[in-house]
Amino acid sequence: MKKIGLYYILLIALISAALLISGCSEVDDDFRMPAAAELKVHEEGFEDPESENFHGFFLRDNDWDWRGDWPGCEQCHGSAPRFEGGTSNVSCATSGCHVDFEGNAKTLEDCNTCHGDFRAAADDFASFAPPRDLNKNTDESAVGVGVHQIHLRGGEISTGIRCNECHVVPQEVFVENHLEETGPDKVVFNQGDLASFETRLADMTANPPTYNPDVAAPTCDNTYCHGNFSGGNKDFAPIWTVVDGSQSECGTCHGDPETGNPLPTTTAEGGPHIPGVFNCQACHWQESDKPIARRLEDGSYFIEQKDLHIDGAIYITGERRTDW
Ligand code: HEC
Ligand code: HEC
Ligand code: HEC
Ligand code: HEC
Ligand code: HEC
Repeated sequence: MKKIGLYYILLIALISAALLISGCSEVDDDFRMPAAAELKVHEEGFEDPESENFHGFFLRDNDWDWRGDWPGCEQCHGSAPRFEGGTSNVSCATSGCHVDFEGNAKTLEDCNTCHGDFRAAADDFASFAPPRDLNKNTDESAVGVGVHQIHLRGGEISTGIRCNECHVVPQEVFVENHLEETGPDKVVFNQGDLASFETRLADMTANPPTYNPDVAAPTCDNTYCHGNFSGGNKDFAPIWTVVDGSQSECGTCHGDPETGNPLPTTTAEGGPHIPGVFNCQACHWQESDKPIARRLEDGSYFIEQKDLHIDGAIYITGERRTDW
């Protein structure tokens, strides 16, 4: 009996082994050891700004809010805003990715994280604005990019303006009306000093500055800066996405847009200027040797004191005037 028992045990063992081997070979066809990359929690390219799976886009598609249960970054990366690593041991703070040009670590809540120049210093205010709009466009023909930078950093005719001339500026990231997609309604002109001068000029109240978001050619109508002042070219409506300098030529905002002569309306047309007297420096100065603008001998013009040009006042022989 003992022998038979042993045979049975051997037989069962043999059959099981045969089954096991055939079973394994069947499984083998479907099963491979995963490569290291396939163990990743995130999609391929999640860390790659050039990839369409980039985590910036993922956040954009989830209302930009990295806090809380969804989209869930806190569950594995530690608590916002520091994200010190959590169970994943991967932290944006120490990743070496969220750093400025000089390698200084930045926080997610810096104003140039989601829009603007990601590599600029956290306190470079002009870099908070596009290029790099929210869809990562960098070309000025994209409406999110447009002529932001020349407005903020200044150029030939001005030393630049602040965001609040055209937007309600959030002081923190997670505040009402910031992250919500408001489209063109995000352009609001009555926050700053210049674009809207309702309190000063009568026709500002009648014709307040407006942003006209025509897709092909979005324009800014009736802004003080671009001609909506007594003696200015009130019909001039510069296009936000044209960056070739043609809209900051002399004559566009005041004077003759055809010839580029900046002299505003003359006495012949009911204005204050003497026809044919083109030397702006003769009258428009704060200090006599420092005119606001100068006409050169070759007939060309340039702005000498850019900070006093489009500033809500005119200077006439040393006097600052805001009362015309
Ligand atoms: C389920 C846990 C989990 C969640 C939720 C999670 N992560 Fe991760 N994340 C990881 C792990 C683990 C890694 C380490 C790399 C890996 O294994 O994929 C990682 C890596 C990363 C990396 C580095 C790139 C990479 O692929 O290695 C980034 C960037 C990242 N996560 C961002 C985020 C963001 C943003 C969120 C929220 C939208 C998020 N993660 C949510 C677990 C998670
Ligand atoms: C989490 C990503 C993110 C961060 C960080 C961020 N922004 Fe924004 N910001 C957005 C989004 C999204 C919009 C566009 C909303 C829309 O379409 O109207 C926006 C729009 C703006 C606008 C246009 C006006 C408006 O509110 O729509 C300004 C100005 C602005 N942000 C300034 C800032 C400043 C200042 C900071 C730093 C305190 C900052 N942003 C940080 C995502 C961000
Ligand atoms: C001269 C006016 C002006 C100034 C100054 C200005 N912006 Fe804008 N901004 C605009 C216009 C116009 C748009 C495009 C609105 C649209 O979507 O049609 C825009 C769009 C934006 C957007 C949305 C980009 C996108 O992807 O849609 C952000 C973010 C923004 N501005 C931030 C800023 C910040 C930050 C500053 C200051 C550092 C600033 N802007 C200064 C006029 C201005
Ligand atoms: C973007 C529109 C714009 C352009 C382009 C422009 N100006 Fe002006 N300019 C203004 C505004 C706005 C004022 C102030 C008008 C006011 O407050 O009544 C002004 C005022 C002046 C004044 C009087 C200055 C003062 O403060 O006493 C002179 C002179 C002048 N501009 C010369 C020029 C010259 C020269 C050019 C070409 C290099 C030029 N402007 C281009 C908008 C512009
Ligand atoms: C002879 C002196 C004189 C010269 C030269 C002169 N201006 Fe004026 N300008 C004035 C006076 C005066 C005013 C203000 C009139 C008032 O009080 O309404 C004025 C006003 C302006 C204004 C405000 C808008 C307006 O028409 O009231 C602008 C812009 C301007 N000048 C630009 C220029 C430019 C550009 C030149 C050179 C091409 C120039 N001016 C040359 C005397 C001069």
